[in-house]
Amino acid sequence: MNRKGIIILGVIAAVAGLRFLSGCQKPFITRELTTISLDAPAHFPPPRDIYRDNPLSKEGIELGRRLFYEPRLSIDNSHPCSSCHEQVAAFGTFEHDRSHGVFESHTLRNAPVLFNLAWYPQFHWDGAIYSLEEQAIQDITGPTEMGDNFNNIIRKLEKVPYYRRAFQTVFNTSNIESTQILKALAQFTGSMISANSKYDRVVQGQAVFTAQEASGYQIFQARCNTCHQEPLFTDHSFRNIGLPVDPSLKDYGRMRVTGRRQDSLKFRVPTLRNVALSSNYMHDGRFMTLQQCINHYRVGIIPSTTLDPLLQNGIQLTDRQSSDLVAFLRTLTDSSFVRNPNLAKPE
Ligand code: HEC
Ligand code: HEC
Repeated sequence: MNRKGIIILGVIAAVAGLRFLSGCQKPFITRELTTISLDAPAHFPPPRDIYRDNPLSKEGIELGRRLFYEPRLSIDNSHPCSSCHEQVAAFGTFEHDRSHGVFESHTLRNAPVLFNLAWYPQFHWDGAIYSLEEQAIQDITGPTEMGDNFNNIIRKLEKVPYYRRAFQTVFNTSNIESTQILKALAQFTGSMISANSKYDRVVQGQAVFTAQEASGYQIFQARCNTCHQEPLFTDHSFRNIGLPVDPSLKDYGRMRVTGRRQDSLKFRVPTLRNVALSSNYMHDGRFMTLQQCINHYRVGIIPSTTLDPLLQNGIQLTDRQSSDLVAFLRTLTDSSFVRNPNLAKPE
């Protein structure tokens, strides 16, 4: 038996021994998983069945969390997922237009916030990705993100006793495999739910808006809700809102995926939950404030053949209405989510 085998057996024996000493009824069961289901908030539609081939468990989520904060997942051992997806910014990049990846690189786009992903049919600003597992491959191996490869990462992780033990518990195998890394990460990212903002409490009859917030909500429902649809604040569609193209990035959005001219300049409608925490804004992070975003709809729209029909005449708002809208957008902040210790960097 090789050294690794001996170590694993040793760990199994130790765990079994401990269980036996603590008077557990099942001393020889070495794999105890606390399986859980994704609990959708009462005012949300049902989530997608994303864990069919990846049963969600407490231990799987915890392993995913460790991996999410693990710098060994990047080639220079200093760019964990959390370096771009920061909890203070609802898991977007805090006050950056685009994020820094390995070796002084920059991502093409602004890092999206990560929550309520179990409701998303597609990922990325252009919808290029269809599952959370596939998504993590892109970030781990992308040259402007983490720049590593799976053989190398597995070699690094296998040196850490915690990981050998945790992968064994969650996936019941003695070798760490790339698919398991992806599944564990998807257990963490896909189970992050944010649904405890003031807006949510109002909708559930547990709080009331101020007069200004209520006015902002009315304007929102009349002018914004078609695309930023409640309760997720996105309808998951791709739309051109008339932002001028950045000549250095030349990002034509959805057309990169479909190759169709009619998709030129269309980007996914982003959620507006936690938007007051997730500056910068838009696919390339060009705006720093909510007021700038609203001003775009009022006076900044550039006409083109793919401009969304809803925005042909811009969105007329008075200064007062714009401030009311911002007041409403601030009610979408879920402070309990950004402070949740279960989602924070493990001790
Ligand atoms: C260098 C910065 C960076 C790192 C590191 C990084 N990401 Fe990302 N992530 C991004 C950017 C930028 C996007 C958007 C890409 C696009 O739209 O083209 C993204 C998109 C995503 C999405 C899709 C979200 C959505 O709403 O579509 C998920 C999920 C995600 N990342 C998870 C992860 C995980 C898990 C890791 C670690 C394995 C990770 N990211 C590491 C920058 C990063
Ligand atoms: C026609 C659909 C549509 C309408 C109507 C619309 N939006 Fe948007 N919104 C989008 C799309 C698409 C983006 C992303 C555009 C991009 O990055 O290229 C966006 C981005 C944003 C952002 C930036 C969010 C982020 O995280 O980057 C804010 C804030 C915003 N919209 C607020 C509003 C408000 C407020 C209204 C109403 C006054 C509104 N939107 C109306 C489609 C729409």
